[in-house]
Amino acid sequence: MNSYRPAHNRGLYQPRIGSVVLVGGGPGAADLITLRGYRALMSADVVVADRLAPVGLIEELPMGIEVIDVGKQPGRHTRTQEQINSLLIEHARMGRRVVRLKGGDSFLFGRGGEEAAACEANGIPVEVVPGVSSALAAPAAAGIPVTHRGIADAVQIAHGHRPVAQSAWASVAGGTCTLVLLMAVAELKAHVAAALTAGVDPSTPAAIIESGTLPQQRITRSTLEALPALAEALGVQPPAVIVLGRVAAADALRAFVAQAS
Ligand SMILES: C[S@@+](CC[C@H](N)C(=O)[O-])C[C@H]1O[C@@H](n2cnc3c(N)ncnc32)[C@H](O)[C@@H]1O
Repeated sequence: MNSYRPAHNRGLYQPRIGSVVLVGGGPGAADLITLRGYRALMSADVVVADRLAPVGLIEELPMGIEVIDVGKQPGRHTRTQEQINSLLIEHARMGRRVVRLKGGDSFLFGRGGEEAAACEANGIPVEVVPGVSSALAAPAAAGIPVTHRGIADAVQIAHGHRPVAQSAWASVAGGTCTLVLLMAVAELKAHVAAALTAGVDPSTPAAIIESGTLPQQRITRSTLEALPALAEALGVQPPAVIVLGRVAAADALRAFVAQAS
């Protein structure tokens, strides 16, 4: 006979600890979340969502799942990272299954590592469900392979709020490395100036993908040198991914195939 008895029958007090699942929600389109992420989301008690978490997914949530929006938006009172960590821990301590839903992948410029570490330090079980990052998905949705045999054999992904490392510009200047910039729209002019100073060819192909995978997706192609003026003229808006390198040229793949055959 099974000798298992629930804790309350053994006279022990055992608080029910919940858990936190960090779910990468994908780049924007609701059907680009992974199946595992979707299942976690649908079985959550509470969803703590970011600004770039796919809106369509939140709209699909069954009634009864609490949604807490902690998205950082200009001009709005926002929670600090410490407050978000505390919120996750507090809800898990109430025995709830908490899903932390983010855009793309939680571990790529998503502060997922900090949230996982805070939960673990407080004895909260954490699971990480990888997501499809905009760094790869937005170029892919625009038909740009970030690597391509014979054209680019490496890719670097950089944060555009800070100056890009000289080593990254050197790789792009070498001609076979693609550079993908996230969060770089506001500083585009400064990045291009730094690239040119670092010796990157002004005619290097460049592309901007705004709202990748969403109905309003827009692709702008240019050269490195001409990109800031064009972006300004077109009113390019975040969220956007910027791709620098030979793969960004509209005819790069066709030209390569023609050359090889
Ligand atoms: C804080 S980072 C988060 C990145 C996210 N963790 C990921 O893996 O995609 C936000 C930046 O991701 C990029 N981004 C996110 N969603 C995007 C989309 N649908 N289209 C283009 N860029 C996007 C933009 O550069 C945006 O400023």
